[in-house]
Amino acid sequence: MTAIVGIIGFPLKHSISPVFQQAAFDHLRLDIRYVAWETEPRDVGNVVERLRQPDYLGMNVTVPFKEVVIPLLDEVVGLARRIGAVNTVVKRGSRLTGYNTDAAGFTRALRDQAGFDPKQAVALVLGAGGAARAVAFALADAGARTIYIANRTPTRAETLVSDLCSAGVDPVSILPLPWTSSRSLRAVLRESDLIVNTTSIGMKHGPAEAQSPLEAGDIPSRALVYDIVYNPSKTPLLVEARKAGARTIGGLPMLVYQGAAAFELWTGREAPVDGMLAAAKAAL
Ligand code: ATR
Repeated sequence: MTAIVGIIGFPLKHSISPVFQQAAFDHLRLDIRYVAWETEPRDVGNVVERLRQPDYLGMNVTVPFKEVVIPLLDEVVGLARRIGAVNTVVKRGSRLTGYNTDAAGFTRALRDQAGFDPKQAVALVLGAGGAARAVAFALADAGARTIYIANRTPTRAETLVSDLCSAGVDPVSILPLPWTSSRSLRAVLRESDLIVNTTSIGMKHGPAEAQSPLEAGDIPSRALVYDIVYNPSKTPLLVEARKAGARTIGGLPMLVYQGAAAFELWTGREAPVDGMLAAAKAAL
């Protein structure tokens, strides 16, 4: 019997998870099919309940359902509980457990692909949505010295900072900032070792597709600029960063590494990450 894993989100037509996850299952000759479940918000409960049927192993969860699924699961563990967002569901028996592998994917990409150790780093995170939450918790866990959060809607940045503090992060090390173009942001940019864009600015098919959250003149050449947007591979921010002489990393490795961690939870097998990365690159 072919086992089934899927991804739930809305919209889903641009997701490349089905491509690189299926490539991994096929590479290891596992009889598993990965399916995209584009789902209206009112149907999320039905999709989660269907997972309890025998053929299903679990699913990935993407925008906008990473928080919505939490009360529908039997338990939520580890970072998913602290972050308040689930991107992977695993079924054991008929129990559904929620995990978050985004944070691990972010850190692994930073270390393996950019050779950057966040310990003691000064990091600036642009955005305060679900992706920013995973990135900020990952940086805090990895021992960053200072994490600044700048968001267009300041109250969201303040909420994220206060949630990190409630989770035990030292309040001195995590601070909200005004959005781009402010003088205080420029000062922080000058001292930043790492700048991470978690907003959808620059994302293909998004509302701010052609824009960059920062201009070359504001980016220090000593910083690593990390855009977690993966499509296009050269986002407007990465183009500005290169103009500034900074090192860059795009979002594709994070996407693949979070998927590899999910793959390992579903199958108990080591994920063939090189093949997954190649399949993901080819799909773009
Ligand atoms: P995700 O789960 O992918 O992080 P999200 O929770 O909707 O998605 O968060 C999107 C992030 O991108 C938010 O930080 C959002 O800023 P607001 O909180 O002010 O909405 C940010 N964002 C999206 N479009 C933006 C734009 N044009 N300018 C500035 N920030 C933007």
